[in-house]
Amino acid sequence: MKPRHFLTLKDITEQEFQALIKRGIELKQNRYTHHQTLNNKTLAMIFEKSSTRTRVSFEAGMTQLGGHAIFLSSKDTQLGRGEPVEDSARVISRMVDAVMIRTHDHSIITRFADYSSVPVINALTDSYHPCQLLADIQTYYEHRGDIKGKTVVWIGDGNNMCHSYINAAAILDFKLRIACPADYEPDPDILTCSQGDIQVIRDPAQAMQDADMVTTDVWASMGQEQEQTARIHAFKDYQVNSHNMAYTKPDALFMHCLPAHRGEEVAAEVIDGPQSVVWDQAENRLHAQKALLEFLLVGQAR
Ligand code: CP
Ligand code: NVA
Repeated sequence: MKPRHFLTLKDITEQEFQALIKRGIELKQNRYTHHQTLNNKTLAMIFEKSSTRTRVSFEAGMTQLGGHAIFLSSKDTQLGRGEPVEDSARVISRMVDAVMIRTHDHSIITRFADYSSVPVINALTDSYHPCQLLADIQTYYEHRGDIKGKTVVWIGDGNNMCHSYINAAAILDFKLRIACPADYEPDPDILTCSQGDIQVIRDPAQAMQDADMVTTDVWASMGQEQEQTARIHAFKDYQVNSHNMAYTKPDALFMHCLPAHRGEEVAAEVIDGPQSVVWDQAENRLHAQKALLEFLLVGQAR
């Protein structure tokens, strides 16, 4: 039987998404209870890009559930010396219970998953970052309740995070307004295939009108460092600051997946201000992914 993978949010139903949020909150509330749901289970964590939150949350999460995680940098493994993805998948998946991958092109993770005998989790590719959305939605739920019907605004690059917001909007039925420069729109295929209520708007202030939540991300993602100067110029009118946050509802939340560049995509007064929930959001990576690991490894998020 083919294992259950989590490569994009499209791999779970609305009901499963809601169950994961519920279980994430439950695990957070009982964080000091000694859960052993993943006793003797091992997670391989393959990182081909840098990480702080993703690595720490997956590794700590496995430990807290009674299991173990192995950090595999592409620099130190044969993957980094050209061993085929398909061969690596067959070998690694015979030894562990799940594999988490952070990599470049999304096709690398789909190829790995095709040859893996255990669940594969997308911990960020150039196209998607679904684990972050589990944490973001849990954070919204904890602060404001159900996100269904609410208006979420994405400001900035139509990147991997934006694509996962597009998927989440369709599954959870919230309105998504994307404010981005013309040359930095999300992938048209991902946008066109989505069933969600999604609008692309040029003017950030217009997009933020009466919004329930505003979120943004770095202007140059990992792998785009050489475009940094051009991107600073292209995105200069897309900073989230107190001026444009004034267009949102007074109780609107601000989120950022982090790491953040204060003074670029977000002003310090916003990320460090009262509407920001970024530290809860970062912490929720741990709880949401513990729920995900249980769901994929022992089928417990019901
Ligand atoms: N948000 C996020 O994925 O952070 P890291 O790159 O630190 O893992
Ligand atoms: N878009 C960013 C997200 C980092 C968590 C990147 O890919 O670098």
